[in-house]
Amino acid sequence: KPIVLSGVQPSGELSIGNYMGALRQWEQMQDDFDCQYCVVDLHAITVRQDPKALHEATLDALAICLAVGVDPKKSSLFVQSHVPEHAQLGWILNCYTQMGELNRMTQFKDKSARHANDVNVGLYGYPVLMAADILLYGAHKVPVGSDQKQHLELARDIANRFNNLYGSEDQPIFEVPEPYIPAMNARVMSLQDATRKMSKSDDNRKNVITLLEEPKSILKKINKAQTDAQNPPSIIHDVENKAGIANLMGLYSGATGKTFADIEAQYAGVEMYGPFKKDVGEAIVAMLEPVQAEYKRIRADRAYMDAVMKAGAEKASARAAVTLKKAYEAVGFVARP
Ligand code: AQP
Repeated sequence: KPIVLSGVQPSGELSIGNYMGALRQWEQMQDDFDCQYCVVDLHAITVRQDPKALHEATLDALAICLAVGVDPKKSSLFVQSHVPEHAQLGWILNCYTQMGELNRMTQFKDKSARHANDVNVGLYGYPVLMAADILLYGAHKVPVGSDQKQHLELARDIANRFNNLYGSEDQPIFEVPEPYIPAMNARVMSLQDATRKMSKSDDNRKNVITLLEEPKSILKKINKAQTDAQNPPSIIHDVENKAGIANLMGLYSGATGKTFADIEAQYAGVEMYGPFKKDVGEAIVAMLEPVQAEYKRIRADRAYMDAVMKAGAEKASARAAVTLKKAYEAVGFVARP
């Protein structure tokens, strides 16, 4: 089976964007791929986190992964900082990445503008650590949204560079990863500004619905979500001219399985957006209900979570160590006797 790697940052409460754009696919990919899923806490601290909040968010994220159906018997599920090989390979790869390459990363430009008071070296090197995550497991496929494409490209460049220096044609050091675009590749936008993606760490909480949000709050936020002032109103999928409606349609479609054509037909000739928004809100509540119930059950069972983390870290570390050893030998490090 092809190896897949994907991660989620515990940089806040996970959003329905994380769910529809990533976690839901994680569950579905488990039968066709050898999946490595991680809660990437090393990545999360590239932006200042409150330690207590990070601690809780990491456990929450792990419980959510289990609640959405990631099966630790089928897949590796682990916390990134439990597998020190990520930081170790990350360091080596730092020495094989040019500053000029990182200067071009658009996510760094965005994030450093948003966190101008803390543009730390870790934020700058984020894509190198991500390359280490991927290359450690020999991942063939990496599910990427459009915002991560550039980072995957960099991981490929680093892998090729390292292979050209130290590997041979038939014995490369690293597998060169390919992007994987999942069939249901939803991109959820902010509720108040549908031209920006929904981000779990958005300061304006009206933009975000979290996976653990109360039904009342979900209904309220969807009711207040951006639409447009078109008169008469129309529910048609037109991302360019009706971004707010298109986003709500995306959410509705993602929550119910209805196509955009179905939804357009269902609301043809409406006179107000209110009833549509009510339906969207209720569909999201129904989608999240089983996930939330399962999350509550798992999160209360710390012994089970510990067992999953322990086994996951051991499984991941055993694989990662093999690649790290190759990289150490390749650069000329003396093996620890
Ligand atoms: N709005 C989104 N729509 C679809 N997919 C999304 N993802 C994130 N936001 C959306 C996908 O979720 C996975 C995990 O993301 P991440 O935690 O690694 O970091 P991120 O992409 O930076 O997510 P956020 O929510 O925007 O976090 P913050 O606010 O901390 O930066 C990824 O596969 C991502 O594509």
